[in-house]
Amino acid sequence: MKTIDINIKMTECSKSELAPEDLALVESTEKFVNHSYSPYSKFSVSAAICLSDGTIVNGTNQENAAYPSGLCAERTAMFFANSQYPDKAIKTLAITAFTNGDFLDTPITPCGACRQALLESEQRFSTPIKIILAAKDRCFIVNSISDLLPLSFGSEFLK
Ligand code: THU
Repeated sequence: MKTIDINIKMTECSKSELAPEDLALVESTEKFVNHSYSPYSKFSVSAAICLSDGTIVNGTNQENAAYPSGLCAERTAMFFANSQYPDKAIKTLAITAFTNGDFLDTPITPCGACRQALLESEQRFSTPIKIILAAKDRCFIVNSISDLLPLSFGSEFLK
């Protein structure tokens, strides 16, 4: 019997330390957060995706009276990007949340279902997705969705 440690790498920084294109992506999440339809949770989430050619795609959480029928911001943005631009890999994903009249102090992290869906996109295009989790000033940066989903189930099991 042995214990196995699984390590992930994450960077913490302030917004002023972000590369200009990453800061622009975070600012785009802030700009679109009011497109969230979240009358039930009153928790607005905004995601912005930068594709391999620099195209930016935005998405926000979309809720429903039948709660599970709604969709998180990350999957809204990702499914739109993959539908509209099926040949373009996702290079970077930025996420921000706003509630009680303000952006969060601590960066939001994607839910398990979004991590699984994002892993599929990462594997499909064989391109790691850089994830920027942004709060009011603090940001966490993770360089691959696989770091957010250790021991994941992916397409390799179905071969
Ligand atoms: N939500 C997201 O859009 N992304 C996340 O990563 C976590 C949660 C949404 C789902 C729901 O509309 C609201 O936030 C509260 O859970």
